[in-house]
Amino acid sequence: MAFDPKKFIPKSVEEIKKQIGNEQAICALSGGVDSFVAATLVAKAVPNQLHAVYVDNGLMRKNETQKVKEAAKKAGVNLIVIDAKKRFLDELKGIDEPEKKRKTIGRVFVEIFQEESKKYNVKVLVQGTIAPDWIESGGMGRDTIKSHHNVGGLPPGMHLKLCEPLRELYKHEVRMLASELGLGDAIAQRQPFPGPGLAVRVVGEITEEKVAIVQEACEIVETELEQAAQSGKMEKPWQYFAALLPSKTVGVRGDERAYQYTVVVRAVKSLDGMTANFSHIPFDILERISTRITNEIRTVGRVVYDITNKPPGTIEME
Ligand code: XMP
Repeated sequence: MAFDPKKFIPKSVEEIKKQIGNEQAICALSGGVDSFVAATLVAKAVPNQLHAVYVDNGLMRKNETQKVKEAAKKAGVNLIVIDAKKRFLDELKGIDEPEKKRKTIGRVFVEIFQEESKKYNVKVLVQGTIAPDWIESGGMGRDTIKSHHNVGGLPPGMHLKLCEPLRELYKHEVRMLASELGLGDAIAQRQPFPGPGLAVRVVGEITEEKVAIVQEACEIVETELEQAAQSGKMEKPWQYFAALLPSKTVGVRGDERAYQYTVVVRAVKSLDGMTANFSHIPFDILERISTRITNEIRTVGRVVYDITNKPPGTIEME
């Protein structure tokens, strides 16, 4: 049966009311469409019991924190912003194995939530988990592809009850809900962003410098592809971003040898993230992206385009 957001909303609000009762709830709001829709549903159900927490882990996109603050205000969601940039960077120091990175981010994220929950005597943790998150995390006897941070990172001793109103839904259904809830295109059509943020787009060990490179490169890829799509040169990809490889390659700047970073541009067409095909971006647009990245980020000397479908590749690098 086709998904009907009009029917889903009142049913979900009733379920949330029942599940949360008179308890205080904490809501993880990362700014993505999933957590935003989850927060909005919970705010509708129990407006005075919701503490919506935004953890700034330093792994967000450029200017993302400001954008999230503004959007939450518009949606009437009371947002608590926690600056945890240094804490995440310190914890991630020396870790280059993808699953270890994901688990560390998940653990620190939950620790912060537990600290916050104590401040408000919170008993329930609301999360924007959707179906692919737990399917790929080895749910229902399936193989673990990668531990999505809101699944794999949960420690066994967590004392909060989970409320996951979007657990059975796929991305396109969450977007329909966002539109129905009046969240506007900026949220409803926002491209997906991984829970561990730019950590999975910095292949290998994370440093502040590398995160800053990916922030700039992602901004360039987003701007250029959105412009190209708007002017009808191409279809807007489902997800599009830049990632940084762990090894440097040799190039030349002016007359001098340069030993610099390589940025990967990734753009895919997908319905729900479970499978994907790389987007056929016109070469002139790829060239513009490459020129801008190497001109504007002086530590990057090479740009490549990822032409791998999923499977066998995943959408993110880690
Ligand atoms: P992959 O890389 O597994 O990604 O092909 C599929 C989709 O999921 C996003 N993604 C995540 N979303 N928590 C999330 O909520 C995560 O840990 C996570 N990892 C990947 C990814 O951006 C893509 O849209």
